Amino acid sequence: MALLSCPQGPLTITRGEPSSIQLSLILPTYNERKNIKRIIEVLSGILDPVLPNAYELIVVDDDSPDRTWEIAEALAAEFPQVRVLRRQNERGLATAVIRGWQCARGTVIGVIDADLQHPPEVMTALWDRMCNGADLAVGSRHVDGGGVGDWGIVRRTLSRSAQMLGLMILPDVLGRLSDPMSGCFLLRRSAIENRKLNPHGYKILIEVVGRGQVGRISEVGYVFRERAEGESKVSWRLYVDYIRHLIGLRAATLPTAQFMQFATVGFSGVFVDMGLLYLLSDPSTLAWGLTTSKLLAGEGAILNNFYWNDVWTFRHAVQGRTSWPQKLKRFLTFNGICGTGVLFAAALLNIQVTYFGMNRYIANAVAIGIVTLWNFWLNKQLAWAIRPAPVSSSISALEESPESRKAA
Ligand code: GDD
Ligand code: MN
Repeated sequence: MALLSCPQGPLTITRGEPSSIQLSLILPTYNERKNIKRIIEVLSGILDPVLPNAYELIVVDDDSPDRTWEIAEALAAEFPQVRVLRRQNERGLATAVIRGWQCARGTVIGVIDADLQHPPEVMTALWDRMCNGADLAVGSRHVDGGGVGDWGIVRRTLSRSAQMLGLMILPDVLGRLSDPMSGCFLLRRSAIENRKLNPHGYKILIEVVGRGQVGRISEVGYVFRERAEGESKVSWRLYVDYIRHLIGLRAATLPTAQFMQFATVGFSGVFVDMGLLYLLSDPSTLAWGLTTSKLLAGEGAILNNFYWNDVWTFRHAVQGRTSWPQKLKRFLTFNGICGTGVLFAAALLNIQVTYFGMNRYIANAVAIGIVTLWNFWLNKQLAWAIRPAPVSSSISALEESPESRKAA
């Protein structure tokens, strides 16, 4: 029976039943009647020798007006590895992929566009990477062997600016991928088992890397092809969805506990900062200039904060990196970031006291609060960055490697 019943409820992938299926590849479709037969034929020709009777192609169709699901169902008679999910009360590419993964039996799950714009041959190189230990193997247009074909300047600019925006909001996610917009990748199922996914729009890959437990990422270059039949469903609404997705993912993946530790350390630094500011600048003590006192008080707080963040907040990131030169490098990075923060806080303090007549201590507290967010985010990315070593990246998608003919 090719037609699957549609999963309902939360978008969570559970551990599958033991199965001989190793790879489950999702083909999301909306009005792809002219492409669906061709993509199934080409993918079958590529995967049959590599994974004989050990892969499945799951077509997830959102009740296309051109009845793509009906053609796919008919093809299942000729291609037994084809299964079809016709969704009638949900719409959207990213959720279509997840619903397909909920029906998947493979230990490796993946997705490829059904319109042949992703060269199906890239699957052998991606499978090869999964066989060699990657948790995630991504088809990328932005590594050697990659390209976007003859996209116009507008599409290129939109795609790149979307990527830049994502890097600002979710650097720890998009920073791990050269092509976070890719819709062609393979993933170890265990990396997202029992994780509640909640994507918006098109970009399923950032959802997987943002919410999953993805260690080693490997990238394979491919050239995004011209669409032969049908048309792209990309619209402005998808860009709005993308921004909503980035913000939602940022909120959901904020390292809250770690931020609370960082803030606690920062709070202890406030006492050091305030104490020094009083000792240096108060008329009843040394009565030094406000800015000089603030800079020295800030540096005193930085020393205090570095020590506690290194031994407590970011202790996991420090493992194996405890030599003095490594500590000094972290301190200089931390000092640079927080030193900039002190200058920023001094400017904020002066603006609030000089232009708004605020009490200097309340103004100082406000300045410290704003700068704490800046310090946490930048230090997590730079001073205490944890980066799993990426597997060597690109080979051209069409390059045959001996392993790719082997089953996993
Ligand atoms: N089920 C379902 N529901 N499938 C959809 C939907 C939907 O709402 N919208 C699009 N698709 C299917 C299309 O039928 C096609 O197979 C694939 O998803 C890609 O859709 P396109 O509309 O052709 O997207 P594109 O060519 O502009 O490609 C861009 O988005 C893709 C998906 O993320 C590029 O960024 C690609 O790299 C990317 O793979
Ligand atoms: Mn397309």
